Order: sequence, then C-alpha cells, then structure tokens
Amino acid sequence: MTGWSGGAGDASERIVEDFPLLRGEGCSLVYMDSAASAQKPECVVACTSDLMRNHYANVHRGIYGLSDRLTTRYERSREVMARFLGAGSSDEVVWQANATAAINLVARSYGGHVMERGKAVLISEMEHHANIVPWQLLEEERGCPLRVVRVTPRGDLDWDHYEELLDSGDVGLVSMTHISNVLGTVNPVEEIVRRAHDAGARVLIDGSQGAVHMPLQVKAWDCDFYVCTGHKLYGPTGVGVLYGKEECLSAMPPLFGGGDMIERVRFSGTTYAKPPARFEAGTPAIVEVIALACAVEWMESWGWDVLSEVETRRSEELGSGLRGMEGVRIYGESEGKAGIWSFNLEGFHPSDVGMMLDDLMGVAVRTGHHCAQPLMEKMGVQGMVRASIASYNRGRDVEKLLEGLERIMKMKGKRK
Ligand code: ALA
Repeated sequence: MTGWSGGAGDASERIVEDFPLLRGEGCSLVYMDSAASAQKPECVVACTSDLMRNHYANVHRGIYGLSDRLTTRYERSREVMARFLGAGSSDEVVWQANATAAINLVARSYGGHVMERGKAVLISEMEHHANIVPWQLLEEERGCPLRVVRVTPRGDLDWDHYEELLDSGDVGLVSMTHISNVLGTVNPVEEIVRRAHDAGARVLIDGSQGAVHMPLQVKAWDCDFYVCTGHKLYGPTGVGVLYGKEECLSAMPPLFGGGDMIERVRFSGTTYAKPPARFEAGTPAIVEVIALACAVEWMESWGWDVLSEVETRRSEELGSGLRGMEGVRIYGESEGKAGIWSFNLEGFHPSDVGMMLDDLMGVAVRTGHHCAQPLMEKMGVQGMVRASIASYNRGRDVEKLLEGLERIMKMKGKRK
C-alpha cells in the first residue's frame, strides 16, 4: 500500500541502523510495541557485554582498582540521568528496579510515613496499574482515600474535576501519568504541579511513557517526584529511576534494609545513609544502571529535535491512516498526543487483530487491557489493539501496519 505515509528519508532510516534486531534489508520485523518495551541500540548491547566481560566487580565495596573504576562509572551514570531528567543534583536520583518499584517506594515511604494520615491521594482515570494499585495498598493500610480525576471522551484530563477534587482540601499527593500508555495523551506537567501545589499537595509524575518522548525538566516543572523505567528508554530491564526533591527524599524512611543503605549498624540500632543510598539496599543492578546511562547518552547523541521529529511524523502518518479507515475506532484524540495509538476494528477481537498482524505482516503490536483495566471499563471495551511509535519506526512500518489492517478487514468480508 502506498500513499498513507511519506516518511522515506527521515532520520528513522539512520536511527534503525543502530538496532541489531531491526536493521538490514532482510529484516521483516516491524516493531510497534515500544510503549511496552523498546528495542536496544547496539551501543547498549555492547556496553552490557563489555561490562560483564572486562570490567565487572561489585560497587561501593572494593578498594581494588576494578571495583573502584566501576563505582566511578556507576555514580557517573547517576549524573547522566540527573542531566537527562533536568534534576538539580544527582543525589536526587534513586535507582530502582523499574517505575513500578519507584511508585511503590513513594507510596510506602512517603505515603506511609511522611504524608499526614488520612490525606487523600489523587490519580486519574488514565493511569496504568502501577499508578493505581500502590495507592490502593496505601489506602488499605493507612486509610488515605483514593480519588480519581475523570478523563474526557477525547482523552484529556477533566480540569474542572481536577480542581473540584483539589478543592476538597484534604489531598496530600497527586500521582499522575505524564503520557497515557493507552490514549497517548500528553499531560501538561507544569500545570498539574502548579494547581496541586496551590492546594498544598505534593506531586508524583509517572514518566513511564513521558520520559521516552520529550525533554524532561523536573526541576523547572517543580515536580516533587518523577519516575521512569529503563527498558522503555532503550535501556535494559531491571532498572528504573525515582527522582525526588532533596527535601522529600530526606524526610522519607527506607523501605528495604541491608547493605549500602546504612550509616552505622549496631545490634542496638541502625542509622541510615542519606538519599539516594538510603533507598538502594543491597547490591544494585550495576550493569543495567551503566547500560541505561549509555542508552540515555545514545538518545542525547541523536538529540530531541531529531527523535521528536521522527516520532511526530510517524504518529501523524499512523493517526491519519487509522482515521481514514472504515471500521476503525480510535481511543484517544487529545491534541498533540504522543505516538501511542489504541484502536479496535469493528467486528474483530483485538487479540485476533494482533495475531493476524503478526502472521500476515510481521507487525508486533500489543493487544489486551494494556495494564489499564479501569480505563478499558470506562471505554466500554475489554481490550484494544495498540501500536506505539519509537524513533526507529520508518514510514514503511506504518504502511505495513495499515496494509495489514486493510487485509484483515477484507479477509473477514467487512470491506467492499
Ligand atoms: N505499562 C506497559 C504498557 O503499556 C507495560 O505496555
């Protein structure tokens, strides 16, 4: 199929060459499930291998050169991440296993011990499970009621409802997604933070999707917490980030006890290290942390202008292709949305669509509830098909996806 996308010649053609699984003329895989997990560039693969082959030791524990050098690289990675986030200091960057772990840490430690008992937590209808369940656990344990801001039919935050819930006066923390993993909605972080702060509430922004698609300015935005995960940022699994303002992290007790998070241990009692070490008990994900910094530097080497230009172009191509197809129901039409497109084909189960796209065209998409069951319920569906764009997606990827959808529709006699 031609005519739906005219993306030949943009930077994606060069970017894709950095990805071993996707590059080369013979490659038939079209990967459009990057919102679930992104593919890894060669430099991240090489960095991981090189660290394990040639540089491996534990960190923060050895006086020998190998350990000392790796400790320097490990801590330098924190600086890279602080720069990427737009944080004030690398001491505000805490390594966690993923975004889920980071949100749970804030819920348990900040929510469980710093936030006043009984204060409410405010989330939105567009959150994925990682930004719902930790707060429900907190509600069960500490009686902090969970309040949910509505989402409009177009997929935007309902600002009047947000104000109304904030006006109740008892909100201790707002925890909202930066970009919806289902609708692609880009929430204006600064505005969310400003209104919450005016109401006396702290703010956590879940950047699981947001960190991948736009430059971050956590300090300028005045976020109290920002979380993201390595594997969606072209980095490895097993590593994620909690950014926390120094004043917030310092007030928080540790969640896990063990090596590295202590200042002094006696049987009569233990004192704890300052953040970030306070929240990093045990041997960390050393290789993964350094490889994540490598992934971030890879992104920086292309630059946001280039990455965003590709993603915006692809997203527009995909959006207009989907809108132009009969029998396609799109979920999420917020203005300026990111390249995350969820939809259903009339008369087809989303799982069947996903399987056929794979079989017919080699296109990998996610199907199902996208870890956002309450949003599915609101939309009145059990599941959706989701195609998500990354900087390595070329115009032909979008064409293949759209061609696959056309073929599926025809196959079932749904189109003339
Ligand atoms: N939350 C991830 C997704 O959207 C796993 O696929």
